[in-house]
Amino acid sequence: MASFSFPKDIQSSLPLPAAKLPDGTNMFQWKGIMLSPQLLQAAITADKHFSARSTDIFVASYPKCGTTWLKSLIFSIINQHSLNQEKESPNPLLSTSPHDLIHNLELEVYSMDPIPDITGIPSPRLFSTHHSYGSLPESLKHCGCQIVYITRNPRDSIVSFWHFTKKFSYHGLEYLSFEETFERFCEGALPFGPFFEHVLQYLKASKEMPEKVMFLTYEEMIADTKGVVKRVTAFLGRPVEEEVEKIVEMCSFEKLSNLEVNKSEENTSKRRYPNNVFFRKGAVGDWMNHFTPEMIERLDHITQQKLQGSGFEF
Ligand code: A3P
Repeated sequence: MASFSFPKDIQSSLPLPAAKLPDGTNMFQWKGIMLSPQLLQAAITADKHFSARSTDIFVASYPKCGTTWLKSLIFSIINQHSLNQEKESPNPLLSTSPHDLIHNLELEVYSMDPIPDITGIPSPRLFSTHHSYGSLPESLKHCGCQIVYITRNPRDSIVSFWHFTKKFSYHGLEYLSFEETFERFCEGALPFGPFFEHVLQYLKASKEMPEKVMFLTYEEMIADTKGVVKRVTAFLGRPVEEEVEKIVEMCSFEKLSNLEVNKSEENTSKRRYPNNVFFRKGAVGDWMNHFTPEMIERLDHITQQKLQGSGFEF
């Protein structure tokens, strides 16, 4: 079991352990989501220290739902005027992992010691998070910044997560069979779970505050990338018609996954994952190669129950 000791100032306010990671490490349910000790410490620290600006833009997602893709698209949309592929000013995406262009608040920014000073970053600052809407740092929810959320069919999300865990070691998740991973997903016992509450919270926020929270699915991005990019540019107030095609092409799976930087087994930041783990198939429907009929039935039942009355279906 990996040992972890919480700083003294938060030891007294810890929630009770709610589940265990495969190596026996306790997971904690904090504001409705399941977090490892490191993630919990980062969450509490972010809650305390993160001071959001109304101009901040957040990419939000449950893991393995299309974060990398959305990060590259949003980075491109925000920087569209300065992006070109000329030698003098090469597009940063050609040489930098999308995850190093938009940092994750809990996995990177607030997991570091000492906490980096992010006040000097010029606006608009771009960040990402895997937190549910309800567990976002308070300042973020109240500052009026914009959030673009991406979700994905839970079947493909589980498959993608399972393959992801096989590529590095994280609390023994790498030893879980597909069946065990499926079970944990259904129980909401994976980091940032439960999945459906995550989806429903952002769905609700997007209905209540459509100018602040945008709700997207991986499947609609695959079906009509250009259309989605146009909607995102409009949402972010950065519409530039003629750049859309270039952005879509630059951020395509084929393009990004074939860049040396994204094929690299190196870890170019303080993340614990190498760059290449974020690209696998980049398609809809790989669940067909993994799910038994019983799994389909069980997950469909849960999906129906959870999404009932929400007006949303995968
Ligand atoms: P698969 O494992 O199904 O291939 P995340 O970025 O949230 O970690 O999600 C990773 C999933 O998104 C992986 O799915 C990965 O292949 C896919 N992905 C990464 N970049 C992509 C892109 N540019 N276009 C489409 N899918 C992409």
